[in-house]
Amino acid sequence: MNEYLQKCEAELVNGYAKKRHPFRYFSLATIADDKPRLRTVVLRKLLSDFTLLFYTDLRSAKVSQLQENNQVSALFYNPKKLLQIRVDGEVFFETDEKILKSYWNNIPENSRKDYITKLKPGSSINEDDEIEYDAENPNFVAVKIKAHTIEYLQLQRPSHLRLLFSRADDQWKMQNLVP
Ligand SMILES: Cc1cc2nc3c(=O)[nH]c(=O)nc-3n(C[C@H](O)[C@H](O)[C@H](O)COP(=O)(O)O)c2cc1C
Repeated sequence: MNEYLQKCEAELVNGYAKKRHPFRYFSLATIADDKPRLRTVVLRKLLSDFTLLFYTDLRSAKVSQLQENNQVSALFYNPKKLLQIRVDGEVFFETDEKILKSYWNNIPENSRKDYITKLKPGSSINEDDEIEYDAENPNFVAVKIKAHTIEYLQLQRPSHLRLLFSRADDQWKMQNLVP
């Protein structure tokens, strides 16, 4: 594998494997009615061949947006290294019950609250309303982003390094770009 693609892989793995690594969180862009929508999500894992994994609530707005249009962009930034990685790709929902169960079982009890609110995420509530939970009916979903292109940008002197990796016939080809 190309040395810089290897670097991308190592940084993404560090994102979920190393405590407090800046790649633990990424900005995820979706499209809704031709408008961009952004939010932060947690990188849970890097699956084989640059497939990113994150978790969400099945009822969240992003899921319906992804069902309409599965093209996404994911942005990572490491301020210490001045390194930005942008992954563009398409989304698939994990459907294998066994795999879903193993992910769910690994989520700490108190973090499962994120997927068991009685009302769907984004519902309007009153200021003094308590959030209610329904542990019996989790709306947990695992989302995979299969990378099509990966753009690597390393800010450095004397000149920045910008590389575009594109997937072609299951091979990655690299193109240098003007930074
Ligand atoms: C640090 C941080 C991490 C987050 N991680 C996730 C996550 O892993 N999954 C998720 O669905 N929402 C996560 N959120 C909340 C989302 O950013 C977003 O507010 C929520 O999912 C609703 O988004 P939507 O209405 O676009 O679906 C996180 C927010 C922050 C600030």
